[in-house]
Amino acid sequence: MTAEPLPPLSGAELLQRFQALDKFLVAHQALWKPRPFTHQTLSWESQHAELAAWLRSRTLEQAEASHNQPTELDSAPAPFPELALQADRLSQIGDLPQQPSADLPPRFSVDVPGRKWQQIRAFGDSLGFTQAPQHWLDWCAGKGHLGRVLAHGGQKLTCLEYDPALVASGAELSSRLGIKAQHIEQDVLAEGAATQLHAEHSPVALHACGDLHVRLMHLASAAGCRQLAIAPCCYNRVAAADYQPLSTAAKGSPLRLSLDDLALPMSETVTAGNRVRQQRDQSMAWRLAFDLLQRELRGVDAYLPTPSLPPAWLKKPFSDYCHDLAGLKDLPAPGTQDWQRLEATGWQRLAEVRNLELLRGLFRRPLELWLVLDRALYLQEQGFEVRLGQFCAPHLTPRNLLLLAERA
Ligand SMILES: C[S@@+](CC[C@H](N)C(=O)[O-])C[C@H]1O[C@@H](n2cnc3c(N)ncnc32)[C@H](O)[C@@H]1O
Repeated sequence: MTAEPLPPLSGAELLQRFQALDKFLVAHQALWKPRPFTHQTLSWESQHAELAAWLRSRTLEQAEASHNQPTELDSAPAPFPELALQADRLSQIGDLPQQPSADLPPRFSVDVPGRKWQQIRAFGDSLGFTQAPQHWLDWCAGKGHLGRVLAHGGQKLTCLEYDPALVASGAELSSRLGIKAQHIEQDVLAEGAATQLHAEHSPVALHACGDLHVRLMHLASAAGCRQLAIAPCCYNRVAAADYQPLSTAAKGSPLRLSLDDLALPMSETVTAGNRVRQQRDQSMAWRLAFDLLQRELRGVDAYLPTPSLPPAWLKKPFSDYCHDLAGLKDLPAPGTQDWQRLEATGWQRLAEVRNLELLRGLFRRPLELWLVLDRALYLQEQGFEVRLGQFCAPHLTPRNLLLLAERA
């Protein structure tokens, strides 16, 4: 017997799920907030010594293999399996029903990278609004590929984007494809952006970062728009120093989220080629080794943030890397060191950090869902009926949650 597919969340389920997630995230903050990369030992390790020792004993390859599915690591000591079960249950969310649209001429996908094209098609096929939209507004449109797909049936299209080069290429593509569209250069965070939104617009936003999609929710609600579709991303790209809750429920939650916390949902690694992975690992292992050195040089047992460095730095001998980075951070010169040992310790720390991060990984999707539900509840408060579901498989994009809002 095949299980019934899960439906998207809607109505009272949105608040119920938010409350359940809130309880889970609040109760286990001590497990997911501290970052193993910046703390040599984590406060929870004394309480869950067996789990900590088990995670620390695993290899980098084992961490890598579990990274994208930490909830499947059921051989870990307690409380990992129980938390994994709860995280899994709380993260369950159905796919939005799709109405496959008519085939588009191949020229529509010219200039659109393969995965982006599939995301756009899936986004468009998932909208299912009750009333037919008349005027699409593609918010942070880039070249406006999404808008053109939606408007190819003849509806009006306005694309807002602040990068003039993208605005120009978008306008050219639209005219080449015979789509009547207005591509407007507009910083959507600027005061004037409010004048671009009107009640007849159906705004759509595919992967507009943090403040950008939140701004859309505020402006579209105030402008009286009847429909809205948002696939959020980059919850940490916000001007404020910490999370500003939107809905009454989130405002009442004891959860306080820093920018570091807000980066957790985006922390799964995308499938990278060997060379990219090797570079990423080396960069992190060297940083972790330097972290030990800088604690000694400063006489302060605390993490010191370092800037991101050009890839050429990883081609230097490790000792030069440390000397140069110490210089960059105005630290005393490192003097004589056992560089080989220090570098090996960095790699060992990397394996431990990656494995300890698996515990944080259990909270990645629950936190993302909490954040998106805050948006869903805000829109409900603005008089929208809201549905929340997945619009595509995670391998097309891990940011695969889509909020659909419609006012009667
Ligand atoms: C992740 S891309 C998404 C583009 C498009 N929606 C897509 O899915 O291909 C985000 C877009 O937002 C634009 N953007 C960033 N900040 C903006 C702002 N303040 N006002 C308008 N557009 C902005 C970027 O230039 C970029 O094109």
